[in-house]
Amino acid sequence: MQDPIVLENLTKDYGNNFKAVDVLNLKVKRNSFVGFLGPNGAGKTTTIKMLTNLLTVTSGNAYLNGVDVSSDPKNALADVGAVVETPEFYPFLTPVETFEYLGSLRGMSEEEVRKRGKEVLELVKMTEWSTTRIGKFSKGMKQRIALAQALIHEPSIIILDEPTSGLDPRGMVEVREVLQELKKLDYTVFMSSHQLNEVQEVCDEVAMIDHGRLLAFDSVSALVSKIESKRLEVRLANQVSGEAMDKVRGYAGVELLNVLTPNSFQVDFKGGDEEQARLLVFLQSLDLRIVSYKESGLALENLYMSLIKSSR
Ligand SMILES: Nc1ncnc2c1ncn2[C@@H]1O[C@H](COP(=O)(O)OP(=O)(O)OP(=O)(O)O)[C@@H](O)[C@H]1O
Ligand SMILES: [Mg+2]
Repeated sequence: MQDPIVLENLTKDYGNNFKAVDVLNLKVKRNSFVGFLGPNGAGKTTTIKMLTNLLTVTSGNAYLNGVDVSSDPKNALADVGAVVETPEFYPFLTPVETFEYLGSLRGMSEEEVRKRGKEVLELVKMTEWSTTRIGKFSKGMKQRIALAQALIHEPSIIILDEPTSGLDPRGMVEVREVLQELKKLDYTVFMSSHQLNEVQEVCDEVAMIDHGRLLAFDSVSALVSKIESKRLEVRLANQVSGEAMDKVRGYAGVELLNVLTPNSFQVDFKGGDEEQARLLVFLQSLDLRIVSYKESGLALENLYMSLIKSSR
């Protein structure tokens, strides 16, 4: 079977030889959940728009299930559900009425729409709101309806551009729960995000881009294991003493030490789990009365920062 998403030398020139996407190559395997990361302006939305035929390709190709999106968009997109720009719904329609309308546009029978509508509302946990007008919904609820309508025709490929952007913390958690549900089912998901915690939580793989070029594409675990240095935060019951801090600075693997408050400090530490465990024993041998000893910042965040820094 064909890989569900393939980008081949995909390029978008917006004019004046400015390439927002610059010879991008990527193959997404079936049933994988890929996070698409990169700073503002990296080219994520441009890539996703070319992939969903909302934007013409300058050169190169985008394939969905082996079908070229530019030359045969209808067939290429038949198996795709996408939420690219938060869709505007008619506020006076209920979710059920919205599905009836969208389903008929997509050539689904009333029976199909009714059955599938129930399933997708359950999936996005909106069943109890099925007959409430969408105008009354919060942003998070609207976004869940957006996800539901993208799934109505039972696609196997889901493409999302920043699905939790602009939502409050509760809205984010609710949408993230839907993403977790999608992950359990047999979907291939390609999703851009600025939320590294979200990506680390729900994605199996990560593609990172900047200036329209691919910086990294690997499994989350492989990327995280490549990160050599971690930031550890230590909080004490007693006060930080200069003498003890000097000893910590001299300890193997400690690259940087900053005193944060009279009873806390952080260290950038290079070493695996075994070395990190030994560091804790060492700190305790200095009579530091440790209340907490934790990794601060996400592993993925550290990698992201170092890759972006070297690309700029
Ligand atoms: N219609 C357009 N015409 C000209 N330049 C554009 C157009 N749309 C986007 N760009 C530029 O292309 C680059 C990539 O933009 P894009 O929106 O794809 O980035 P992004 O990775 O989605 O960023 P963000 O994280 O902010 O959403 C940016 O420099 C942007 O200013
Ligand atoms: Mg964008």
